[in-house]
Amino acid sequence: MNICQSRGYCCAMHLSPLQSRLAASVVASCLLLLLYLSLFSPHFAVAIELEPPSPAIFDDDFDFSPNLAARSPFDVSYEPDFLGFDRSIIGRAADGLLKLENTNPTPMDLDEGSTTRFWFPLSILAGRESEDRLELRSEHNQSTGQDVAKRQSSRTIYISANTCKQPTAIDPNKTTMEPPQLTLFVSKSAEYQAPGPLADMSTQHMLEFNEGAVNFNFTATEDVYIGVHAPNVADQFEGKYNFELAVAGDGYYFTWNDQDDADLIWVDSDSQGALLITHNLTTDGNPATQEKIMSMDPFPYVLFAHNKTDKGLDGLKHSWCGLKLNAMIAGVAGGRDAAKVRTSMTKRGQGNFPKQQFFFNGLSSDTNYTAFLARERRPGLGKRQEGEDGVGGVEVFKAVDFTTKSDHGNCALITDLTFCNEVAYSVPSNPSFGNSTQLARFYDDYAAERYVNFNLTLQQIQCEAGPTQRYSLVRNCTHCVDAYRKWLCSVTIPRCEDFGNNAAYLQARAISQPFPDGDRLTEGELLRMPNVTRFNSSRVPRIDEEIRPGPYKELLPCDDLCYDLVRSCPASMGFGCPQPGGVGFEGNYAQRSKNGELVCNFQGSAHVPSSSVKVMSSWGVMVLGFGVVVVVLGI
Ligand SMILES: *[C@@H]1O[C@H](CO)[C@@H](O)[C@H](O)[C@H]1NC(C)=O
Ligand SMILES: *[C@@H]1O[C@H](CO)[C@@H](O)[C@H](O)[C@H]1NC(C)=O
Ligand SMILES: *[C@@H]1O[C@H](CO)[C@@H](O)[C@H](O)[C@H]1NC(C)=O
Ligand SMILES: *[C@@H]1O[C@H](CO)[C@@H](O)[C@H](O)[C@H]1NC(C)=O
Ligand SMILES: *[C@@H]1O[C@H](CO)[C@@H](O)[C@H](O)[C@H]1NC(C)=O
Ligand SMILES: *[C@@H]1O[C@H](CO)[C@@H](O)[C@H](O)[C@H]1NC(C)=O
Ligand SMILES: *[C@@H]1O[C@H](CO)[C@@H](O)[C@H](O)[C@H]1NC(C)=O
Ligand SMILES: *[C@@H]1O[C@H](CO)[C@@H](O)[C@H](O)[C@H]1NC(C)=O
Ligand SMILES: *[C@@H]1O[C@H](CO)[C@@H](O)[C@H](O)[C@H]1NC(C)=O
Ligand SMILES: *[C@@H]1O[C@H](CO)[C@@H](O)[C@H](O)[C@H]1NC(C)=O
Ligand SMILES: *[C@@H]1O[C@H](CO)[C@@H](O)[C@H](O)[C@H]1NC(C)=O
Repeated sequence: MNICQSRGYCCAMHLSPLQSRLAASVVASCLLLLLYLSLFSPHFAVAIELEPPSPAIFDDDFDFSPNLAARSPFDVSYEPDFLGFDRSIIGRAADGLLKLENTNPTPMDLDEGSTTRFWFPLSILAGRESEDRLELRSEHNQSTGQDVAKRQSSRTIYISANTCKQPTAIDPNKTTMEPPQLTLFVSKSAEYQAPGPLADMSTQHMLEFNEGAVNFNFTATEDVYIGVHAPNVADQFEGKYNFELAVAGDGYYFTWNDQDDADLIWVDSDSQGALLITHNLTTDGNPATQEKIMSMDPFPYVLFAHNKTDKGLDGLKHSWCGLKLNAMIAGVAGGRDAAKVRTSMTKRGQGNFPKQQFFFNGLSSDTNYTAFLARERRPGLGKRQEGEDGVGGVEVFKAVDFTTKSDHGNCALITDLTFCNEVAYSVPSNPSFGNSTQLARFYDDYAAERYVNFNLTLQQIQCEAGPTQRYSLVRNCTHCVDAYRKWLCSVTIPRCEDFGNNAAYLQARAISQPFPDGDRLTEGELLRMPNVTRFNSSRVPRIDEEIRPGPYKELLPCDDLCYDLVRSCPASMGFGCPQPGGVGFEGNYAQRSKNGELVCNFQGSAHVPSSSVKVMSSWGVMVLGFGVVVVVLGI
């Protein structure tokens, strides 16, 4: 141990204190390393001794710039005629090698046109994991016992890197392209220790970063040498690149994920806020599992948001540290404007499974934003239910766009209602009415009040009766109550859109009233709309009387809410639905779109990105012969 520590070697390895085989493992690794050193000593010893005490910031002193300056930034490719590499140059390059530990990555600056090189001794991985693997394997396959030595020195290596900062354009008026990406060079052989743009391509792999991130894995049998090269574009850009590199034996540290089901869902927004949720974090119905997820601390995900038209994130959209340092809103501890995003867990929505939700506030109105969901994976945390392999690291997910509302600020997001607990969308509002808590209270109280009469009627139905006396064999009062509540909340709490939104499926409301700021629609605008009640007022008169939002557009409730109510409740309650095209349909209900676009409101509705449209179950046109038209006006 002491010998090891004095070389600053073993103690630098990443050994989790939780591992019960710590001691054995450390001793084994030290012995292995000593053996390794005694065999290959001279060259490596030099590299070790030259290793800077802290590899925090390191600019490569071995500069190819003169040669590269004339090249196009994208032409980082190799020069085959450089094959006859001078031994002395390799020697000098080796001096500049940084030894990579199998630990958390550190940010490093990189000048334009230069290359930073790293050395990753395979032995770092050998001690820690080989015993594990050998034990596992011998259980499955006894015939491989003699392969021990070989297995130990052949490991899959996962290299991943993120660009944290890029140079900026000297004259943004002239340079419209984004700064070129960094390039990763990997040499798999200890013979070629200077991977980079000038080395022979047959001795190395070259990968250009994609939106600030790169991933590469392969089976290594020798120490690995890595070069990260920055293109020389000093004529157009100034400043340094900054990146983080991680090498591990058990998986990538930095990953990005473009998969649909990792998606973030934009629920709704108002003029300065937005609500986004993750997908179900589990679909396991077990209350204990759900409880564990609901009480996760810290929260599993973080969120970044950026003005979509701003170029500040271009080239960094897959990079964790790139987002953390450059996004306009970084919902991480100490992140820029982190207070503008609040997060919590919720079970709201179809299925009532746990999800994480994010509220933005302080956004600019009428602006397109892009949101990036990301996650820090902590080894051993939540790995079972999410199918992870327990690797620490970070993951960046596919970006989701959302838009804030504009106009007169008379739509406001409300959530966390008590009675209508599934409501989380924008409703007609007026800044002078009160804050969003008070607004939510107003709508929730109104719906709960409406529920009382229904509840009284329900008491007269034989809910607890046996199957023969029940009103339906497949539906009981639980279904009726659920259907009524969903319908009631959707019709009493209108989903609000900008008056300026001209989508055909929206219903204009309260057109003859003033906006909260006193503006009114012009005579011309009024004349273009029918002079009928459904345009002239809100469905619930109390909204016009107490909130006075002025003109807004309503995303009408889906007609299937009404059909479900009729199917679920006893006929004696007298519910009926208007039919599409018939009396009472227009201005009260809308039909779901076949392609899943959000054209009508239901409890738990959200803006589904059109690229990943999930077709909702289609109700078709149900012909119902009821004479009663159910609208809220008057109940
Ligand atoms: C055991 O190892 C032998 C030789 O490598 C191989 O042919 C065989 O498929 C292995 N069996 C299992 C169960 O992996
Ligand atoms: C870019 O153009 C704007 C407006 O044309 C001008 O105000 C600004 O000074 C220009 N920036 C540079 C760096 O030339
Ligand atoms: C390792 O690289 C191969 C291609 O070389 C790729 O197919 C595979 O998915 C990678 N493994 C992981 C875990 O990403
Ligand atoms: C959660 O799961 C339920 C049931 O499978 C599904 O209907 C719902 O759409 C899911 N919610 C999200 C946000 O993915
Ligand atoms: C968003 O970015 C564009 C382009 O940089 C800029 O013109 C616009 O003012 C920005 N909007 C906000 C609200 O920051
Ligand atoms: C937002 O993006 C949409 C679609 O790309 C575009 O039609 C709209 O004009 C944009 N809005 C703003 C305020 O830039
Ligand atoms: C809203 O206003 C009420 C009463 O003025 C206050 O008690 C409450 O804390 C406010 N809520 C928020 C979110 O500001
Ligand atoms: C409905 O009525 C029942 C029985 O009187 C009562 O227990 C229940 O709390 C009522 N529900 C609501 C939401 O008021
Ligand atoms: C109604 O039926 C469902 C199953 O379909 C059942 O879970 C529920 O307890 C029933 N409710 C009543 C009041 O019987
Ligand atoms: C709308 O109709 C009402 C009566 O139905 C009438 O008093 C009013 O003047 C009309 N408004 C316009 C703008 O035509
Ligand atoms: C619409 O509302 C205005 C003012 O509230 C009223 O003067 C007008 O008569 C209404 N029109 C209809 C058709 O109800």
